[in-house]
Amino acid sequence: MSSTLGTLYRVTTFGESHCKGVGAIVDGCPPGLELTEADIQPQLSRRRPGQSDLTTPRQEADQVTIYSGTEFGRTLGTPIMLLINNKDQRPQDYGEMSQVPRPSHADFTYQMKYGIRASSGGGRSSARETIGRVAAGAIAEKWLRQIYGIEIVAWVSAVGDIEAPEVALETISRPEVDANLIRCPNTAAAERMEALVKEVLAAKDSIGGILTCVCRNVPVGLGEPVFDKLEARLAQAMLSLPATKGFDIGSGFAGTRMRGSRHNDTFVKKTARLGTRTNHSGGIQGGISNGEPIVFRVGFKPVATIGMEQETADFNGDKVLLAAKGRHDPCVVPRAVPIVEAMAALVIMDMTLQQQARQGSSLV
Ligand SMILES: Cc1cc2nc3c(=O)[nH]c(=O)nc-3n(C[C@H](O)[C@H](O)[C@H](O)COP(=O)(O)O)c2cc1C
Repeated sequence: MSSTLGTLYRVTTFGESHCKGVGAIVDGCPPGLELTEADIQPQLSRRRPGQSDLTTPRQEADQVTIYSGTEFGRTLGTPIMLLINNKDQRPQDYGEMSQVPRPSHADFTYQMKYGIRASSGGGRSSARETIGRVAAGAIAEKWLRQIYGIEIVAWVSAVGDIEAPEVALETISRPEVDANLIRCPNTAAAERMEALVKEVLAAKDSIGGILTCVCRNVPVGLGEPVFDKLEARLAQAMLSLPATKGFDIGSGFAGTRMRGSRHNDTFVKKTARLGTRTNHSGGIQGGISNGEPIVFRVGFKPVATIGMEQETADFNGDKVLLAAKGRHDPCVVPRAVPIVEAMAALVIMDMTLQQQARQGSSLV
């Protein structure tokens, strides 16, 4: 089982849904960065459950404590341990589900692979595991912002079949995204999305959606061809998130329907560097960032645990009717926004440190 991500900025997450706490150990954070819990908490609070009636009612404050790796509010360059206590555990909600693998959840595969599994709440497959990622990502983001002015903003661009119109990639900001509960910066689309989530929740069902993410001011040259191309690392990071089903970048799958003459991002002189007129490449060419905004999308499925009764089978193969208890998200995309931002920050941070190491040793 791999719970560690990254080469030079290495993040190990720990914790299960209903254990005493979850978090991360970050190894490789540069020394001297001003860092306190206040730098990390805002993203955790955007991720936390119980934020609104569109998300799971599980109540967790998700307060982070930095246990190591800083002194007098600055990083020491040593491992940073981040711990967040679990408070609202209710393993009793999962009594029946311990005998019945939830359809399309991870109960069956974890049990088959390990021969044992956390008996409630999905264990490591729970979205609570992503807390450590968000905390570690917030540190990476702070460093990337300070050193390069990098800005990472994700938003909900679709819920079910409701799609938001395109947004201004140069200016879209987190306050705009957070202006409504669904985290879609287009108010009209947001209202329709919220109504759909409420309708689905009332029917004891769930629904999926898409996040779009833009990373601005990413320097040219990040990405390690051939196996650690920047888009390959981003795809791996995003598809390691629970409930993700799709990743595309730049023109993505839609680009397959275009002609090369329209799809090519022709070069043009920009203020500080050579840039491109269009950005169908999504900011990455040959696996290396080209200085244009990195733009990608992540598709999330309708979550598996639903209150509606479904015919399935228990671990013995006997037919059962399962109506899930417990507290669950009818649609994960509003809470996934800071998680996707964190994963982007973790990848870009690691790739930046690798490129700095190359530049520091280069003879050309
Ligand atoms: C923010 C977030 C919240 C989630 N909440 C739930 C939930 O309440 N109920 C559920 O069944 N799955 C939830 N999931 C998804 C499951 O963790 C995931 O579907 C499960 O681990 C199986 O993995 P897979 O869907 O990637 O195959 C959530 C995912 C995210 C990102």
